[in-house]
Amino acid sequence: GQIAAVIPAAGIGKRMQSEIPKQYLQLHGKTILEHSANVLLQLPVSLVIALSAEDAYFSTTPLATNPDVQTVIGGAERAYSVLAALKHLDAKQFPWVLVHDAARPLVQLRDIQQLIQQCWQSGQGGILACPVRDTMKRGQLRVEQTVERASLWHALTPQLFPTETLRQALSQALSAGITITDEASAMEWAGQPVQLIEGRSDNIKVTQPEDLALAGFYLESRA
Ligand code: CTP
Ligand code: MG
Repeated sequence: GQIAAVIPAAGIGKRMQSEIPKQYLQLHGKTILEHSANVLLQLPVSLVIALSAEDAYFSTTPLATNPDVQTVIGGAERAYSVLAALKHLDAKQFPWVLVHDAARPLVQLRDIQQLIQQCWQSGQGGILACPVRDTMKRGQLRVEQTVERASLWHALTPQLFPTETLRQALSQALSAGITITDEASAMEWAGQPVQLIEGRSDNIKVTQPEDLALAGFYLESRA
C-alpha cells in the first residue's frame, strides 16, 4: 500500500505502575501493542514501530516476524519516538502517515477509514477526536472559570498527516522547545490545518491501572 503507519511504543508507562511497560501487558491473550498494531495492519500499510533501546518484549511477539513491520529505536519523549520513525520512511513512497499510540488497543478500523477518507478528500491532515462529556473547569484549587464545553474535544489517535510536512513540523517544534504531546500540536504550531474527525469514545488510551479492566470490558462486549 502507499500509506505508512507509525506506532510510538517506546514509553515506560510510568502512570500504569506495572512491572513491564504497559504496551506489553496482556489483554485477552495478546499484548496491548499487538491489538493496536493488528488494527492498522488490516489496512495495506507499511508499519514502523518505535521501541525503547532496552525493549525486552517486542521480539517475543508475532509482530517481530511480520514482513509489513519495521522497528526503530525511539526517544526520550513521544515526539522524538515519532520523529525517529518518520526519518525511517521515504516520504515520496509514503506521502501520508498515520500515527497511532501503542496504548490505544481499542481503535476500530471503520474510524480509521473515516479519518483517511476525510483527509484524502480535503487534502488536509486530521485527527480522531471525541467531544468532552463533563462540564469543564479551569483553575488551581478553586474554579476560575467554566470553559465552554461545546468546542472542546479529546484528541485521540490515529492522527493522519502528510509525511514530510509532519516531519518538518515535529522537528522544528522540538528544536523550538515546544511541548508536543501529539502530532496535531506540532502541526498547529507550524500553522498547518488539522481537521477534527469524530471517533468512538471507547478508543481509550490505557494510562492508569483501572484502564486495563475497562479495555478488557470493551473488548469482551465486542466479541
Ligand atoms: N511513547 C514513546 N516514546 C516515549 C514516550 C511514549 O513511543 N518516549 C509512546 C508510548 O509507548 C505510548 C504513546 O507514546 O504508546 C502514548 O504515550 P503515553 O500514554 O504517555 O505512554 P507512556 O509515556 O509510556 O506512559 P507514562 O506517560 O505514564 O509514562
Ligand atoms: Mg507519556
